[in-house]
Amino acid sequence: MIDPQATALAKARYNRIARIFDGLEALMELRAKTWRQRLWDQVGPGKILEVGVGTGKNMAYYPKGAEVCGIDLSDRMLERARRRAEREHIAVDLREMDAQSLDFPDGSFDAAVATFVFCSVPDPVLGMAELARVVKPGGTVLLLEHVRLEQPLIGRLMDLIDPVIVRMVGAHINRRTLENARLAGLAVESVENMTANGLVRLIRAHPGN
Ligand SMILES: C[S@@+](CC[C@H](N)C(=O)[O-])C[C@H]1O[C@@H](n2cnc3c(N)ncnc32)[C@H](O)[C@@H]1O
Repeated sequence: MIDPQATALAKARYNRIARIFDGLEALMELRAKTWRQRLWDQVGPGKILEVGVGTGKNMAYYPKGAEVCGIDLSDRMLERARRRAEREHIAVDLREMDAQSLDFPDGSFDAAVATFVFCSVPDPVLGMAELARVVKPGGTVLLLEHVRLEQPLIGRLMDLIDPVIVRMVGAHINRRTLENARLAGLAVESVENMTANGLVRLIRAHPGN
């Protein structure tokens, strides 16, 4: 069940940092560009859903001929995505929507993509279950996410400082995203480490396990 309070808080946090978001992430983005490319290389044309589109950093990678719909909880992040789409002449249907309750019929999309989103969705299993629902059977779900490291000491340290990070930037650093994907009913096809320590992972999955 959706937690309305936690969801409102997540929205407020991203609305608060929308103006400075690209600046905050500028350094990480130098590396993330390669990861984004790697993800989008696996997406063909067709109907694509981008969940948590943010300020639109993935727009440059949208495949030619794809019909992309981007959703986000935060109206201020979306505002920036809209400006980017206009500036860069990207055709994308942008809508304010909660990933935990997608306003699309079952099997609406050929693929769904989320990059660094399920660290901040209040109930990630609910959100991923929605992806499993709105993607056609046999379609693809691609998730690029930072995850909890399972080394005992580092994992516990991540748990310890997580509340501080959430308050600062709205993202949890200790999400078990692979496990959550399975719990959500996604059949995981592959997991690729984008960093040597496995902190950032590219998960390819299909609806139904
Ligand atoms: C760390 S940002 C990532 C933005 C973008 N995907 C990127 O790669 O730069 C996380 C985004 O997820 C959005 N988000 C968080 N919870 C959400 C939810 N329940 N539904 C839709 N979007 C959500 C936030 O508003 C924010 O724009």
